[in-house]
Amino acid sequence: MMEVKSLLSERTQFMKASDIRELLKWVTEDVISLGGGMPDPSTFPKELADIARDVIATKGSSALQYGKTEGVDELKDELIRFMAKDGIKADRDEIIITTGSQEALDLVGRITIDAGNVVITERPTYLAALQAFKAYRPNIVGIDMDSEGMVMDKLEEAVKKSISDGRRIKFIYVIPTCQNPTGISMSIDRRKHLMELASKYDLLIVEDNPYSYFLFDGIYVPPLKSMDYENRVVYMSTFSKIIAPGIRVGWVVGNRELIRWIAMAKQAVDLHTSTLSQYIALEALRRGIIERNLPRIREVYKVKRDAMLDALAKYMPEQVTWTRPIGGMFVWASVNGVRTEDMLPVAVSKYKVAYVPGKSFYPAEDVHTSMRLNFTYPSVDMIYEGIRRLSNAIRDELKRSGN
Ligand SMILES: Cc1ncc(COP(=O)(O)O)c(C=O)c1O
Repeated sequence: MMEVKSLLSERTQFMKASDIRELLKWVTEDVISLGGGMPDPSTFPKELADIARDVIATKGSSALQYGKTEGVDELKDELIRFMAKDGIKADRDEIIITTGSQEALDLVGRITIDAGNVVITERPTYLAALQAFKAYRPNIVGIDMDSEGMVMDKLEEAVKKSISDGRRIKFIYVIPTCQNPTGISMSIDRRKHLMELASKYDLLIVEDNPYSYFLFDGIYVPPLKSMDYENRVVYMSTFSKIIAPGIRVGWVVGNRELIRWIAMAKQAVDLHTSTLSQYIALEALRRGIIERNLPRIREVYKVKRDAMLDALAKYMPEQVTWTRPIGGMFVWASVNGVRTEDMLPVAVSKYKVAYVPGKSFYPAEDVHTSMRLNFTYPSVDMIYEGIRRLSNAIRDELKRSGN
């Protein structure tokens, strides 16, 4: 038998399967999963079947053909209009369409990071961003957050330290609105402060924004990109949560020279994002389906967010604390005295509830007491029952560990 391990590159040996994907494998039908990060399938637009048929019937010669690496021009034009509502301005050559934001994260890492470079992130941050960046062997520096997002004094301290250590900072990666995993949104003052620090130290910011479409409480927070007077923000967003993740279409907006390099890297990865999916997204935008659907999705998710917060208040013991997100898909809970990764197998097998342990969202995997809870996929009843089961698992674990 061929010894596969010895064939792997050094880079590959650093790769690690996402804990979420591993976890989803064990979740059987009787388990309530608060784990994954999936949209509620009832939010997928019903019109997609007609759109797909129309696109293939009338635009097939382009929609089924190879396309430009940078993406379909008409889709970019629609995105320019779509983003203008958030104060984001872009020309066609400042946009590239990607295969979801996940590809964008990999491509940004691929074109910027050499081993040992510093990448700054929130702490905790999106675990698949860590997974994407880590393949390029950076030194990831996580900056603590509070209820207003990344703490700017700590950021400046870390920037100064990297500079004095002679380490090159390649970018600061942030999810400023309804962050995955914590649900925290960065305050406006912090956003301004972040832009000032980026300017002062001449740093690139990577802004990942899949969730700002789902703000439930009438609180609006502008994207960093709309405050980006020096063109130092690479902005990424996605149709995954506003159409459906299965179409795998996202986009990046940034400095045109960076976009050209991203396109160069993307050429080698997948030539271009599925033209069929791009045409479907284009038609969904053109027909106003996303604009019409969004208020309904917000309503569905607001009810679920409220149900989760209510259930947590109702069932959790006093050792548990949690965030109160103004939107997005996740609540972040922490339990004093419990290692959530150790509790998971028992939670799944005995209590029939799943969540994502917090550890893998920390660049150094050094915090063990937190967990990510998703409220968009389960029904309201499942949320109440899931949180009730989880509270029992936690009580059991607290008792077992003597807390
Ligand atoms: C913060 C963040 N970035 C990127 C992604 C990847 O999304 P996509 O489906 O567009 O690849 C997700 C998905 O959950 C996410 O939460």
